[in-house]
Amino acid sequence: MALQLLALSFFLVLVPLLGTQEDTGPKTQGAPREPETCRKPSWDPRLRLAPEQEEYKENKEVTLSCPEGFEPSFTHIKCSREVQSISTAKPVYREVWKGKGSGGAWTRIRSMVQCVEVFVPGTWEVSTTSIKLNWTCSLPDACQRMQATCRLAGPSSPSCEAEEVTAQVMLHGQNGTFTCDHLQPFTDYSVTITVPPSTILFKWVIRTKETVPEKPERLWLDASTGTLQWQALPSCKGEILGFQLNVTAWGPQDGGFLQVERLRLSSSVTEHPLPAHGPGTRYTVAVRGLTAAGAGAALLGTFQSNGSDTAAPPDASSRLVRDISPSQGTAVLRLRPIPWVPGAASEHQLLVAATHNSTALEDACTGEPQPFNASHPPDAYVAAVLNLSAQTDFVLGDGTREHGFHNAPLRPGWDYTALLRLERRSQQEETFACVCYSFSMVAGQSPGSWTGIVIGVVVLILLLLLCAGIVWFVVSRRRKDVPIKAKDNN
Ligand SMILES: *[C@@H]1O[C@H](CO)[C@@H](O)[C@H](O)[C@H]1NC(C)=O
Ligand SMILES: *[C@@H]1O[C@H](CO)[C@@H](O)[C@H](O)[C@H]1NC(C)=O
Ligand SMILES: *[C@@H]1O[C@H](CO)[C@@H](O)[C@H](O)[C@H]1NC(C)=O
Ligand SMILES: *[C@@H]1O[C@H](CO)[C@@H](O)[C@H](O)[C@H]1NC(C)=O
Ligand SMILES: *[C@@H]1O[C@H](CO)[C@@H](O)[C@H](O)[C@H]1NC(C)=O
Ligand SMILES: *[C@@H]1O[C@H](CO)[C@@H](O)[C@H](O)[C@H]1NC(C)=O
Ligand SMILES: *[C@@H]1O[C@H](CO)[C@@H](O)[C@H](O)[C@H]1NC(C)=O
Repeated sequence: MALQLLALSFFLVLVPLLGTQEDTGPKTQGAPREPETCRKPSWDPRLRLAPEQEEYKENKEVTLSCPEGFEPSFTHIKCSREVQSISTAKPVYREVWKGKGSGGAWTRIRSMVQCVEVFVPGTWEVSTTSIKLNWTCSLPDACQRMQATCRLAGPSSPSCEAEEVTAQVMLHGQNGTFTCDHLQPFTDYSVTITVPPSTILFKWVIRTKETVPEKPERLWLDASTGTLQWQALPSCKGEILGFQLNVTAWGPQDGGFLQVERLRLSSSVTEHPLPAHGPGTRYTVAVRGLTAAGAGAALLGTFQSNGSDTAAPPDASSRLVRDISPSQGTAVLRLRPIPWVPGAASEHQLLVAATHNSTALEDACTGEPQPFNASHPPDAYVAAVLNLSAQTDFVLGDGTREHGFHNAPLRPGWDYTALLRLERRSQQEETFACVCYSFSMVAGQSPGSWTGIVIGVVVLILLLLLCAGIVWFVVSRRRKDVPIKAKDNN
């Protein structure tokens, strides 16, 4: 009993003594009697705390928010105290912040709370008529209020008349892709991500991709100057880099010549002189615009040089083909240098095509020259290359080989066209001029000789006389008929 009393008195005396010692001693952090508060956290400066204070009482809930478009990683926090260590049998506390998780449980915040961007744009995919963006939402549900809008950015140029579009897409879920389509090519659109009522989170101006230009609208010939003209193209579907102009002139002189010009002109050029040839020349013209995306559709035109439309006789070329010998496979051509291609080399190529078809001849005249190959006959081959400076008679098909070209014998019974070709090429221009010599490897055919002409003329005169006779006969019959008819009518 005495022992118990002793213990109690010891306790009563000693414990208050210890307590006062602690109270008067230096303050240590986390001491149990300290005011139970936390200092305002110094996290992301953009974070707004409600209420906004320098100190927060323990367990008082604080709401966090961020500027529009951002969300804090915790929206609700509270000040708390946690045992830091137990030294000399007494727990030492420190202030901590706890955040409310999605399940409602409070967990200690271990890293700084930050304002994070909610909407994270991904990769743009832009075509000529659509704009696409995939996106992710960094916090679940935070993107539900957002919408994406595409609009024409500013007025389009009057010649292009881009339509107003307003495509609005609500964003849903954690990730997705929004697409604005039915857009015009090569046009600026503004794409915005907005939070209603009026906050713009993102704004981009995106230009749709270029496409090939429209077909030019008008192509005409100024007959007084012989100049071809066309309408300039607006840069609606892409920046107009230039024009491609192809001119094919078919003329009757010398029994058919062909001139093909392929030009690349700058975008400011809207006229070009037609190669001047005599009356009866038929021109086919194709013009198309070019953008970085390629060439547009071609506008075609055909023109006839004014003056006499009556073409020269179709077989006038026969005057230039003589001594056709099917047995030897040769024909003699009277070659004259082509004078109308200034700047071309004097080197003329003599091509042979086994056809009279004008489309095929046009291809031959503009094609890459192939040497003759017996095992694999090309559509057209180069029989010879000649330095022509004056009229020359040339034996086609004599079997000689020169400069890598074979002047192969011609086959009896076949239709041939020899093309004397001159070309001029530069980066901006290709010109091919061809004089055509059409003939058939048929025995006895020698329409070029003067006897042929004489026979032709005699036959023509006989035919004319016959016609005149028939006309005279009919007219004299009708004269007699008139009175009888008149009687009938009465
Ligand atoms: C968007 O799509 C591309 C592939 O097209 C992919 O590499 C990228 O990660 C996506 N981005 C987002 C934010 O989904
Ligand atoms: C997009 O969200 C769905 C769930 O909505 C998920 O299954 C998918 O993995 C997410 N994709 C990306 C790229 O985040
Ligand atoms: C001109 O001819 C070239 C070669 O045949 C062709 O590639 C091009 O498309 C033509 N241009 C026009 C305008 O027809
Ligand atoms: C072509 O027409 C123009 C004017 O229309 C005229 O001045 C010119 O003489 C004509 N040329 C020919 C070859 O008839
Ligand atoms: C000429 O040849 C082309 C092909 O090269 C063909 O389409 C056309 O029908 C031919 N014309 C004649 C009259 O044979
Ligand atoms: C002729 O054509 C054949 C078949 O295409 C080819 O194998 C050969 O090399 C050609 N010969 C010459 C000389 O080009
Ligand atoms: C034509 O003449 C030029 C020089 O005048 C020469 O270089 C070339 O080889 C000649 N070509 C032929 C086929 O003779």
